[in-house]
Amino acid sequence: MAERILILDFGSQYTQLIARRVRELQVFCELLPWNTPEVEALTETTRGIILSGGPQSVYDFGAPTLPGYVLKSGLPVLGICYGMQILAAGTGGLVERASLQEYGLAEIQVLGVNPLLTESPQTVWMSHGDQITRPPEQWQVIASSAYCPVAGIMDETHRLFGLQFHPEVSHTRNGSAILRRFLLDVCDCQQDWSAESIIQESVTRIRETVRDGLVLSAVSGGVDSSVTTALVRQAVPEQVRTIFINTGLLRLDEARQVEETFRPLLGEQLMVVDASERFFEKLAGVTDPESKRRIIGETFIREFEAAAKKIGQVDFLAQGTIYPDVVESSGSGASQAQRIKSHHNVGGLPPDLRFQLIEPLRFLFKDEVRAVGTALGLAPELVWRQPFPGPGLAVRCLGEVTPERVGILQRADAIFTQELGKADFLRLHQDDEALSGSSQAFAVLLPIRSVGVMGDQRTYGETVALRAVTTHDFMTADWARLPMELLARVSNRIVNEVPKVNRVVYDITTKPPATIEWE
Ligand code: XMP
Repeated sequence: MAERILILDFGSQYTQLIARRVRELQVFCELLPWNTPEVEALTETTRGIILSGGPQSVYDFGAPTLPGYVLKSGLPVLGICYGMQILAAGTGGLVERASLQEYGLAEIQVLGVNPLLTESPQTVWMSHGDQITRPPEQWQVIASSAYCPVAGIMDETHRLFGLQFHPEVSHTRNGSAILRRFLLDVCDCQQDWSAESIIQESVTRIRETVRDGLVLSAVSGGVDSSVTTALVRQAVPEQVRTIFINTGLLRLDEARQVEETFRPLLGEQLMVVDASERFFEKLAGVTDPESKRRIIGETFIREFEAAAKKIGQVDFLAQGTIYPDVVESSGSGASQAQRIKSHHNVGGLPPDLRFQLIEPLRFLFKDEVRAVGTALGLAPELVWRQPFPGPGLAVRCLGEVTPERVGILQRADAIFTQELGKADFLRLHQDDEALSGSSQAFAVLLPIRSVGVMGDQRTYGETVALRAVTTHDFMTADWARLPMELLARVSNRIVNEVPKVNRVVYDITTKPPATIEWE
């Protein structure tokens, strides 16, 4: 079992970034709400604890508190921002509202020798309204800034550290080095989290779970389900049946392409089901995004059940759920209520599910899934495909989902994709810090019509929005700076080639505050 760092989430917008940075340093970590019970939070393999930031003040009524097991465990602890403040408050220090709040870049001076901070001064990212006005006794102040005299503290004997600034944010220049020192020097982690170790661990776990049972593994043509299927096949090759369900909500010509990709690999083990009519029937008249997701999740399961009946005794269903699906569907934050959308394979499952789920990617970020796919020998075109949501075009067809509207969307989307591909904008390019190209790009059909004029005739037609974003992890994203001529060509082709569309717009919103998909 890989060594593990426990990250307790106190609700900061940066908590997921902490997890990403730790994983980038090849250390496995798990992000859990701050009030997770000790039995779930601490495992034998836990080597250290990180306490995230959070929006509240430690002295607010009902504010999250420091769980007792954190200090009792004797493990090294790093508190970041709010995490540092509750660590200090929990060990006799005093936290108060600062007279001057500090947001953005700041310079800290490093005070004395300590295991985390070396270079002085250094630039860090601050975001706080409270600060420690009296450090706990026996603790040493290791950093200060102009507005924040206690910007870093430690109790070296007990391996406890606190930083007022955010090492996980890229603006903190030495942030990754600070986290590396905490993980490697203080927690003594071995950096045993790699694509190979993930594969090994998943294969062992799948074998232990499945034993001599039969697994139904669903492929959609995307990277997550393909990697999941490859892992299950590696673990129990003779006990897997793969199913591809054509929902009618796929991209233009995609159903044929998926079958062509998988048939030669899987032969008779691949079952293809055309369920498009049933999906459209269930979605008739539905416009609410969460209802669409729930209906699609449920319809998928009913289709799996029907397929399982034909196969015989199927005990397990393998799904390509990945970490962001889990985090965004449940809201990992201290507030717990912040469900953003029910990713169909997490929040949209019916309660009477007959299968036991196998989700080997449940703890992986997208780039980790890709690394695993590459290590498993999957074709690069498959591994580097842009993501496509489980509910498919239903969440890109705003308003009612009908075969006709999906047809319009498919054609507009195909034109956009084709032009992006020709200009090499269908993948992400990185030049130093700057990102170009796109990590994900697609068309959206809006639920509004607008007035236009074509050949001297008034039109009242559909509106297509184009969305293209750059991102590594799909948790935050910027809109892609596509060349104007490219946008012009796409717009021109869509209005000329796709009947009923008379307007094309480009989405220029980042995530947050928007999400990547429109629903
Ligand atoms: P959002 O729209 O939440 O999307 O910013 C983040 C990434 O997740 C994809 N996505 C999904 N993937 N099932 C999936 O497998 C879903 O229900 C789902 N919803 C969104 C989205 O395409 C983007 O890459």
